[in-house]
Amino acid sequence: MKLNVELVPLLLLFFSLSLCEMAYIFEEDDLELERQVRTMNKPSIKTFSTKEGDKIDCVDINKQPALDHPLLKNHKVQTQPNLHFTSFCSTSPDAKSVKFGLREPCPSGTVPIRQVVSLTDNMVENIKYGGGGSLTFFNLTVAHDQLSAHSLWIETGPPEHISMIVAGWMVSPQLFRDNRPRLFTYWTGDGYRNGCYNVLCPGFVQVDREVTPGHPLEPASTYGGRLFELNFHIEQDRSTGNWWLIGGDGDQAIKVGYWPKELFLYLRNGSLHTAWGGIGIAGSNGFCPPMGSGHRPDGVLSHAAVFRRLYWIRSDGKFLPPSDKTTVWVDRSNVYGLMNFHRVRKCRMGYMISFGGPGGYCRV
Ligand SMILES: *[C@@H]1O[C@H](CO)[C@@H](O)[C@H](O)[C@H]1NC(C)=O
Ligand SMILES: *[C@@H]1O[C@H](CO)[C@@H](O)[C@H](O)[C@H]1NC(C)=O
Repeated sequence: MKLNVELVPLLLLFFSLSLCEMAYIFEEDDLELERQVRTMNKPSIKTFSTKEGDKIDCVDINKQPALDHPLLKNHKVQTQPNLHFTSFCSTSPDAKSVKFGLREPCPSGTVPIRQVVSLTDNMVENIKYGGGGSLTFFNLTVAHDQLSAHSLWIETGPPEHISMIVAGWMVSPQLFRDNRPRLFTYWTGDGYRNGCYNVLCPGFVQVDREVTPGHPLEPASTYGGRLFELNFHIEQDRSTGNWWLIGGDGDQAIKVGYWPKELFLYLRNGSLHTAWGGIGIAGSNGFCPPMGSGHRPDGVLSHAAVFRRLYWIRSDGKFLPPSDKTTVWVDRSNVYGLMNFHRVRKCRMGYMISFGGPGGYCRV
């Protein structure tokens, strides 16, 4: 099992700012939803503008964006309905029906798809094709109905249709029947309608012959002692559109597998958002689980989970640290904390955060 490397305990002490009301950090751009939809624009047979200024693409009826939905993979377009309906009654003289403005029809075999124009085309360089980092992991005691996750998120789309890929380590007695830290993955293609942890549903394509989502990680780091970290990387293959999960160390990068692009309504061509941090899911009694090492960050690296060398991948393939626009966010500051060290040049730590806490009652 080669998913971790030993991290020399570092005695750097950061007399850090009181950034502690946080447990989560995310990189995002204020791009409009429209921009996301635009990535679904399809090759067009013919394009024209209407007098209202709409741009219309005439797209092959069998390649229209609707058919990108994962459930419509084998859908055959029905071109004629068989209904009881025959026609509308003729309009009475005192009420006029709406007339749809006269437009040019698309050529036979194609249908009009209105282009979603974007005001933010110049921000295309902020599309993210993946990200990664190195994250220390610990043994944690988590109750059977709690879950403690530490991960990288890649996500795009409005909440009700969000496409998301998550990977990192977690402790979940419910999923794994033990308290070990394990590699985990999660994905959803369309606002949690489809998707799951690890390989509990079809979708993630396993490639490596040894390491799977759910693989136990050992040895674990100890508070104030030796630290072990999980390196991982998620990147969209630009030739196939598939999102790959890579784990390992400098000597060995394990290509665990990938999420085919067809799974996602969004994330077809990069992502708008990436985030790094932790999530605790409370048990039925309203108690949040411990996160990280089970201790809040205090500036000593071996005291709390450390997520370092954070990066996202730009369209030119460059790995960049989170930008100044990165937001830090903690929604349960009574039980978790986060320290943002930003870029730490010493010891090539990269962009670094430390987070976690003991958990506890966290119902609002
Ligand atoms: C973590 O838990 C495993 C499994 O229970 C155990 O073998 C290991 O010694 C523990 N590691 C530490 C650092 O406590
Ligand atoms: C993906 O998006 C980039 C940037 O917007 C664009 O240059 C590229 O052509 C797109 N690729 C595909 C396959 O749509």
